[in-house]
Amino acid sequence: MKERLQKVLARAGIGSRRAAEGYIAAGRVMVDGCRVSQMGLQVDPECQRITFDGRPLSFPEEKITVLLNKPAGYVTTMHDPQGRPLVGSLVKEPGLRLFPVGRLDLETEGALLLTNDGDLANRILHPRYEIKRTYQATVKGVPAAAALQALRQGIELEGRRTWPAQIRTLRRREGECTLEVIIHEGRKRQVRKMFAAIGHPVLRLKRVAYGGLRLGDLASGAHRRLTAADIRRLFQGSPPQGQQE
Ligand code: URA
Repeated sequence: MKERLQKVLARAGIGSRRAAEGYIAAGRVMVDGCRVSQMGLQVDPECQRITFDGRPLSFPEEKITVLLNKPAGYVTTMHDPQGRPLVGSLVKEPGLRLFPVGRLDLETEGALLLTNDGDLANRILHPRYEIKRTYQATVKGVPAAAALQALRQGIELEGRRTWPAQIRTLRRREGECTLEVIIHEGRKRQVRKMFAAIGHPVLRLKRVAYGGLRLGDLASGAHRRLTAADIRRLFQGSPPQGQQE
C-alpha cells in the first residue's frame, strides 16, 4: 500500500514528518537507488527499497489489535489452499502483519480480532481468562424450554461436556428463532454443534461481543483499531489476572 514518503520515514522512527521533509530536501533519502528530492512522493515500503543515509529503513513493530466485523464467506486464516477470500484482505494496516485471534467459521459473521501482539492473543485465547463470547444464533424451528435448559447446563459433545452457557430467546419468527448465546469456550463449530445436538440447526451465526467489547454499529467488512480502554473491556468480567498481565 502506497503512502507519502515523509510519513513512511516518520513511521520508521527517523523523526517527525517535518524533520523527514528536511532530510528529503537534504538528499539523504533514496528510493530504489535514486536520490529523492520531490516532496510527497508515494512509496510502498513493502515493495520498494528505501534508505536513509544509505541504511535501509526498518519499522519497529507497533503493537496493534483491530476489531473486524467479519462478513460471511471469508476464511479466518492467513492462507487458503482453496483460494477463498481471507479476512486479512479486509484489514488495511500498512507495514503491519496481523493475524486472527482464534477463528470464526467461513459462514459465521461478526466480531473477530486481529493483532500482531502474540502475548495479547495468548491471553485472549487462554481458557483461564474465561473471556465470554456472545453470539446471536438464528436456528431452525423453536427449541423447547427443556432443550435450551440442557444446553445451558452443558451437553456431551464429542466425548467432552460443554461448560455452562447463558442462553435467552431474542426473537421468534415463522419457523425460526434467534437466541443470544454466551459461552467462554472456543471449541470448533461449538455453537453449531450445540444446536445440531438438540435438533435445531443454526441458520445464521453472528458473534456480537468479545468479553465486554461489543461490535456495535461497525459495518460488515469494516474494522477499527482497539484503544487501551477497549482492551480492558475485552477482559471485563474475567478473572482479574486478565487485566494485569
Ligand atoms: N461457534 C460456531 O459454531 N462457529 C463459530 O464460528 C464460532 C462459534
